Amino acid sequence: MSRRSLVTGGAGFIGSNLVRALLERGDRVRVLDNFSSGNRGNLEGLTDVEIVEGDLRSYERVHTAVRGAEVVFHQGALGSVPRSVQDPLTSTAVNVEGTLNVLLASRDEGVGRVVAASSSSVYGDGGVFPRVETQLANPISPYAVAKLAAERYCVSFFRVYGLETVALRYFNVFGPYQDPTSQYAAVVPRFIRAVADGVPVMVHGDGEQSRDFTYVSNVVAANLLAADAPQAPGRILNIAAGGSETVNSLAETIGTILEKPVARTHEAVRAGDVRESWADITAARETLGFEPKIGFEEGLRLTVAALVGSSAVVVPRDRPWDIPHPS
Ligand SMILES: NC(=O)c1ccc[n+]([C@@H]2O[C@H](COP(=O)([O-])OP(=O)(O)OC[C@H]3O[C@@H](n4cnc5c(N)ncnc54)[C@H](O)[C@@H]3O)[C@@H](O)[C@H]2O)c1
Repeated sequence: MSRRSLVTGGAGFIGSNLVRALLERGDRVRVLDNFSSGNRGNLEGLTDVEIVEGDLRSYERVHTAVRGAEVVFHQGALGSVPRSVQDPLTSTAVNVEGTLNVLLASRDEGVGRVVAASSSSVYGDGGVFPRVETQLANPISPYAVAKLAAERYCVSFFRVYGLETVALRYFNVFGPYQDPTSQYAAVVPRFIRAVADGVPVMVHGDGEQSRDFTYVSNVVAANLLAADAPQAPGRILNIAAGGSETVNSLAETIGTILEKPVARTHEAVRAGDVRESWADITAARETLGFEPKIGFEEGLRLTVAALVGSSAVVVPRDRPWDIPHPS
């Protein structure tokens, strides 16, 4: 079914992957982005995308972008825990006010559903593993606090205005179009780049911290499912691969894939980073019919292929976001 979809942050890593999937299924796609951490290159070759350049902090620009949309996928945000530690005011303005603007404009324009990106960081440190949505959130970084506020606004707009919203808590997403060069680059593209270039990977702490690394096509599929699943409105759902890998094992696996030795340097643990992360994805399975199709190692192979074009890598086997919809 062809729809008019808006992707905020559509020039970013996850947004641009989602835009491709939406175009493939025949949607008319609009992107709202200010190109602060995303870039136009991520949308290169996609001629059918309408781009609204603007800032999420401006209700007027957001309203212009939302007008006519049936579904809004709100991916736009200032990501990164360290960025929020350095500049909590800007992170909060974009991530909280920006979300509020998206929700207000969607309410005002009668949008059918808003699917918003939240983050595993809201769980913070301590507590039990794997993380379940019913657990109390205990965010420790300004980024995580803002994401928690934003997802609670989503629930609130469903409760008080009847706007259908779904918040998806992503766990460490990686894949093609993720920027390896930015000052705030995520660990996967940073490590791939370093190992490919034969320089040491830089590890914060002892490297035994764990993450539920999630290949991006799984996240894209979750968004598509969340836009339609009848039981999803008002929910907050973990989206992850449902496993747990240490940063050290990430480095080793990349070395194995690239058939290169991995040297490491260690720096201090970063303020705001959590020690452990691992998701229970039962709620997403039950509510969305979500199933992560691409696991950690296969996802890494695909990402290495995209980032460094290694011939040692097996290429994509299918379009993993084509998950049958739950009836
Ligand atoms: N990548 C992950 O591992 C991860 C994990 C949890 C949650 N998330 C969330 O997923 C979403 C997408 O993340 P990503 O990794 O693709 O990040 P990204 O930085 O690649 O994409 C974010 C996009 O938002 C845009 N943007 C930022 N500030 C803006 C503003 N003021 N106005 C308009 N556009 C603005 C950026 O230019 C960029 O294109 C974010 O909401 C992020 O918080 C990501």
